[in-house]
Amino acid sequence: MTAKSGVALELDDIQAGALEPRPVPYAGKYQILRLDDRHAGRELLRRLIPYLDSVASFDPKTPVSLAVALSFQGLEALGVPEESLASFPPEFQQGMATRAAELGDVGENAPEHWEKPLGSQDVHLVVVGLAPDSARLEAAVRYARDALRDLSGVVAIWQQDVHSAADLRNMFGFADGIGHPAIEGTGIPGTNPYEVPLKAGEFVLGYEDEIHTTSPIPQPEVLGRNGTYVVFRKLHTRVAAFRQYLRQRAKDRAEEEWLAAKIVGRWPSGAPLALSPDKDDPELGADPKRNNAFMFGDDPRGLNSPVGSHIRRMNPRDSLVIGAVRLHRMIRRGTNYGPPLPPGVLEDDGADRGLLFAFVGANLDRQFEFVQREWVNDGKFIGTPADKDPLVSSSEGREFPIPKQPIRRHLKGLPAFVVNRGGEYCFMPGLRALRWLADLDT
Ligand code: HEM
Repeated sequence: MTAKSGVALELDDIQAGALEPRPVPYAGKYQILRLDDRHAGRELLRRLIPYLDSVASFDPKTPVSLAVALSFQGLEALGVPEESLASFPPEFQQGMATRAAELGDVGENAPEHWEKPLGSQDVHLVVVGLAPDSARLEAAVRYARDALRDLSGVVAIWQQDVHSAADLRNMFGFADGIGHPAIEGTGIPGTNPYEVPLKAGEFVLGYEDEIHTTSPIPQPEVLGRNGTYVVFRKLHTRVAAFRQYLRQRAKDRAEEEWLAAKIVGRWPSGAPLALSPDKDDPELGADPKRNNAFMFGDDPRGLNSPVGSHIRRMNPRDSLVIGAVRLHRMIRRGTNYGPPLPPGVLEDDGADRGLLFAFVGANLDRQFEFVQREWVNDGKFIGTPADKDPLVSSSEGREFPIPKQPIRRHLKGLPAFVVNRGGEYCFMPGLRALRWLADLDT
C-alpha cells in the first residue's frame, strides 16, 4: 500500500491511465478489441499487465501510459461469473447505446447513426495509449500489438488516433485540458487552489466518497476495488458551423472572439473570463498556477462568466445552483482527432474532426449521466429550464443569454456544433483485478 498523502490509497494497484492527467502536448491511440474466445482474452490480459503503469509507478516526467478498460459485454466475454456481472450498476450493464434517451443521444446522435462498431455488442476491451509524442506512443502501443500476436480469438475492430494541434488548441480553437480536480490521497495536484480536494471514493471504487460512505462496489471485492468507470465518446465538431454562426452574429472579429469566449467561459488562450473579463490574456492562459485559480461566487449574475457558459455549467464551483456541485465532478480528458480546419475557413471541408471525450469517475449515474442530463441538456439547475449548454449540447435551436450591462445579449437559434458519433461505458479495473480476470477458470 502506498500513500502519497493523507488517505491510504492503493496507488500501486490503480491504473495510472485512470487518474493521471494527459500529457501536453500529446499523441494517443484508442483501440477496441473483440474477444471471441475467453481464453484468448485472458491470455491477452496476462500479456498486457506488465506494461500497465499504476499511479505509484507512473513518472510524470515521462508521461507515457497504456491503460485497459472493459465494457459490460467484455466482462461477459471473459467469462466473469453471473453473480459478479449482476453486481455492476444497471447503467453500466446497459451500456451507452441503451442509455441514449437519458444522454440526449437522439436524432442524428442516436445509436443507429453511430460509427460502426461503436454501440454494438462487439465492443469488449479498450486499450488507450497516451504519450507526449508519436515516437513514444508508438513504443507503448507496440506492446499492445505484440500482445495480440498469435491470439486468433481476439480481433482488433476499431481504432482512433488522437493528437494535439501545433497550437495546443482544440478544434474550436480553444486551449483544453486545463481543469483537473484534486483528489485526496493521490498526490496528483489539482489545478484549482480554491477547490477543496475531493474524496478519493468519487474517482476510485472502495474508498469513502463525498457522501461519506463507501459505495457498494462490484463483487468480488478483488474485482471492484481500485477500479473506476471510464466513458468515451467520439464527438464530431462542426467547426465551420461554429465560425459561421459567430460571423453572422458579430460586427467584427473582436466581437466574434468575445461571443465565443462567452460561450466557453474562457478565451482561446485558456484565460478564464472570471479573471480577465474584457480581453484575452495569453500569459494568464498559459500559466498553470493562475489559469484555474478562481471561483464564480463573486459574479452571481454572470456578468463576467455567463451562468450558462460551458465551463460554468460543467463545474459551477461556488455558484448558487440547485444541487451539490461536488457530487457531480469528473476527471475529463479531451483529445483531438482529425485535421483542424485551417484558420479563417468558413466552409465545411467534409473532414471528420472532433474531440475524443473521456470521463473518469466512480459513479456513472451521479456523475457522467447527471451532468449530461441536467447540466448539458437542461437548465433548471441555474433557473433557465429552456437553456442547454451552448457549446456541447447537440440539440438544435438553443438559446444563450449573455448577461451584460446596460442590456444583455441574447443568442438564439444555435445549431448543433457537436454530434456524438458513438462511445461506450467501460470499467477500468485495478491491476490486481486484471490478474484476477486473467486467472478466471470458468
Ligand atoms: C466537443 C465537445 C467539447 C468541447 C469542444 C469542450 C471544450 C471544453 C473547453 C475548451 C474547456 C475549458 C478548458 C478546460 O477546463 O480544460 C472545457 C472544460 C470542461 N468540459 Fe468540455 N468540451 C466538450 C465536451 C464536454 C462534455 C460532453 C462534458 C461533460 C459531459 C464536458 C465537461 C467539461 C468539464 C467538466 C470541464 C472543466 C470545467 C472546469 O472545471 O472548469 N465537456 N471543455
